[in-house]
Amino acid sequence: MCGLDWPAMLVAPVWNGPGLTGKGGGLVAEPALEGTVALVTGASSGIGAATATALAARGAAVSLAARRRDRLEALAASITGQGGTALVLECDITDQQQAAGAVERTAAELGRLDTLINNAGVMLLGPIAGAPLEEWQQMVELNALGLLYCAHAALPHLLRAAENGPRRVADMVNISSVAGRAARNGNGVYSLTKFGAGAFSESLRQEVAKRYVRVSLVEPGATATELASHNRPEVLESIRNQFGQTMAAEDIADAIAYIITRPRHVAVNEILIRPTEQER
Ligand SMILES: NC(=O)c1ccc[n+]([C@@H]2O[C@H](COP(=O)([O-])OP(=O)(O)OC[C@H]3O[C@@H](n4cnc5c(N)ncnc54)[C@H](OP(=O)(O)O)[C@@H]3O)[C@@H](O)[C@H]2O)c1
Repeated sequence: MCGLDWPAMLVAPVWNGPGLTGKGGGLVAEPALEGTVALVTGASSGIGAATATALAARGAAVSLAARRRDRLEALAASITGQGGTALVLECDITDQQQAAGAVERTAAELGRLDTLINNAGVMLLGPIAGAPLEEWQQMVELNALGLLYCAHAALPHLLRAAENGPRRVADMVNISSVAGRAARNGNGVYSLTKFGAGAFSESLRQEVAKRYVRVSLVEPGATATELASHNRPEVLESIRNQFGQTMAAEDIADAIAYIITRPRHVAVNEILIRPTEQER
């Protein structure tokens, strides 16, 4: 298996609903996040959808941000149908005002913000030489700037939640990648954005640690989502033979839920999580 993220499923399955489990078929009996509010970017598919479901199952009200409203509405219906609370936020977080608007609407409509999952991302691979510049722009605008816009807008709310909220701790979880730890031939600009997420996370972690905002970095390996499907056909063809074992989006959501549900004095700073067979 290569150091690229995943090329698991070229065309990932359409998300079919979260399948929350719990007592009586309702939301799970593990209300560790009851009374808290989480904003998940990129909640319309893959890791974001699974994470929103996992947090709702633990009692959080969830705000679902992405561009595809129909997907968000289906997810929200599933969560609310099982007794949870979900807010649909159709937005493009590469637009600073829309990113800030998603944060402010979450706080205004759900009453607070305890958790930000900076998950929305795009992975466009291929050689650096001759690469379409628009692909680089797209990755930098979403994976780096979009994450920063959301972090900037959310931080005052997270600091307030950590100071006054019932749990007296708040969380920002930034989704990086194995590619945020090691650059490989073919993932140069994607790696650039993910290394950047790691650097930003560590700097911010140090800045706000004593104020009980925990900043965590999650670095998934190959996970079966729609991520690879946005690549050019020739890139897809060239990486096809790198397919190997993959994790499910729920495996990453589980790790994220673990981070957020730790007691106040425990901060899980970083999780690198690969399919067992993935070597690098
Ligand atoms: N899958 C993997 O193997 C893997 C491995 C390591 C890291 N990751 C990281 O995990 C994160 C989630 O990816 P995924 O694998 O779950 O892929 P995915 O299924 O393609 O999800 C990406 C999400 O980002 C959203 N998004 C894209 N552009 C956006 C924009 N401009 N504004 C708001 N939302 C936007 C998409 O929703 P809309 O299109 O509806 O806007 C979608 O919900 C990414 O940061 C990715 O780099 C994934």
